[in-house]
Amino acid sequence: MGDHQDMLEESRQGEALALNASNGMQEGKKLYIESYGCQMNFSDSEIVASVLGNEGYTTTTNMEEADLIFLNTCSIRDKAEETVRKKLNTIKHNPKKKETVKVGVLGCMAERLKGKLLEEEKLVDLVAGPDSYRKLPELVDDVEDGQKAVNVLLSREETYDDIEPVRINSNGITAFVSIMRGCDNMCTFCVVPFTRGRERSRNAASIVEECKDLYKKGYKEVTLLGQNVDSYRWSDDPELRGRALKEAPRDEVIDFAKLLIMVAEIAPDLRVRFSTSHPKDIIDEVLFAIRDYKNICNYIHLPAQSGNTRILKKMNRTYTREWYNDKVARIKEVIPNCAISTDIITGFCSETDEEHADTVDLMKQVRYELAYMFFYSERPGTLAQKKYEDDVPEDTKKARLKEIIDIQTGINKELNEAEIGKSYEVLVEGVSKRNENDLRGRNSQNKMIIFPKENYKVGDYVMVKIEKSTSATLIGKATDLVTY
Ligand code: 5AD
Ligand code: SF4
Repeated sequence: MGDHQDMLEESRQGEALALNASNGMQEGKKLYIESYGCQMNFSDSEIVASVLGNEGYTTTTNMEEADLIFLNTCSIRDKAEETVRKKLNTIKHNPKKKETVKVGVLGCMAERLKGKLLEEEKLVDLVAGPDSYRKLPELVDDVEDGQKAVNVLLSREETYDDIEPVRINSNGITAFVSIMRGCDNMCTFCVVPFTRGRERSRNAASIVEECKDLYKKGYKEVTLLGQNVDSYRWSDDPELRGRALKEAPRDEVIDFAKLLIMVAEIAPDLRVRFSTSHPKDIIDEVLFAIRDYKNICNYIHLPAQSGNTRILKKMNRTYTREWYNDKVARIKEVIPNCAISTDIITGFCSETDEEHADTVDLMKQVRYELAYMFFYSERPGTLAQKKYEDDVPEDTKKARLKEIIDIQTGINKELNEAEIGKSYEVLVEGVSKRNENDLRGRNSQNKMIIFPKENYKVGDYVMVKIEKSTSATLIGKATDLVTY
């Protein structure tokens, strides 16, 4: 994520990644797993690979040799589900697949559609919701016995905290670490609270252990993941956990600011990122942690969704435009170099041209480093679907989307031009996709930077002086190796 094309509508759901975690075993059964949607799904697929790895499954990137094909799905917009349906049909009609292959749907679409996925079309053998992955061995057994298998129970506790993910398609340098699951926010447009269930935080010690282990294995960056990371709360005291952990005073719990610091203190050359922040929950202590720890990256994903207060209220975002603006100002005050990105929805129920203009205005005012932009897609079962009419014509939604994409592209171009001449510390993540003599990495602000390889290598921290830019990338030249 983070490339320029990510800004296009539906970018988050088209992504499919074939996972390859072959551990060298030649024998045994093969799992092919493809992930759609948010990073959380990609991270969950690593849990799934781990659970089935214990049963002797190795993963493969070749669907045709698979005994088990899993699609880890997304329901956030209608088109995301459409993509999965098409894929299921392609799988069904692929003559080269194994005759005995079984097909499973995991993730949000499994949770939303439940058994219907088995009944509707004969495309699927197994349906497993996001909280049922520990049960996959039994579900797979049932399927192998010729039965259909469904488990869509949501849990209030499951965080898979003791399962060591099998890193798949990893660059060996950056990894995602899930710190919480579910969401209690109930934004009216959003299906996530229904598909991923109630918010719950993962044991802090197990998070720190996982990050330490990654560092020992040579990883240099962890991204702490959750639908709403700033409401992370943990206590080792089971009684406190059982009671209202959310209401407990900060000094009695490990909150997100404390967790960030615990992870940042593992090593100065282990970068820490996090996503996603709800503007209402990000507090000064988190900003102070970013300011005080150089390895906590200066980048906050702070979805606005809209720039108009009436629409924000209708979305149940619980802040006004002014309140959001004040939050942005506070971030810039505490961390002057902080990059901020956003998610925006155009054409939410009853949005007028004037209200859309407020969103345009907000974007021009904040000048986000990155924006993920979508037109509103009504989702069955959400509060908006029940309470409001989806009355903005599709053409209008799309025209508004195009308008903001164009504006954001212009802003990116200007912001990138202003970077020329500056120097940044870049963590090298890999070789450039376009030119094998170039390396690619990010600065603290999450900006992709390309520079000639010389003698630098993947995993190095390198000072790079920016010489050229496009609206998507910065191009520079290395000046120094940074040592820790
Ligand atoms: N329609 C369009 N976009 C949506 N998002 C969530 N639900 C919808 C929907 N029904 C967007 C929001 C969210 C991002 C992950 O997806 O902007 O922040
Ligand atoms: Fe959906 Fe809102 Fe929760 Fe994000 S914070 S997952 S948009 S309900």
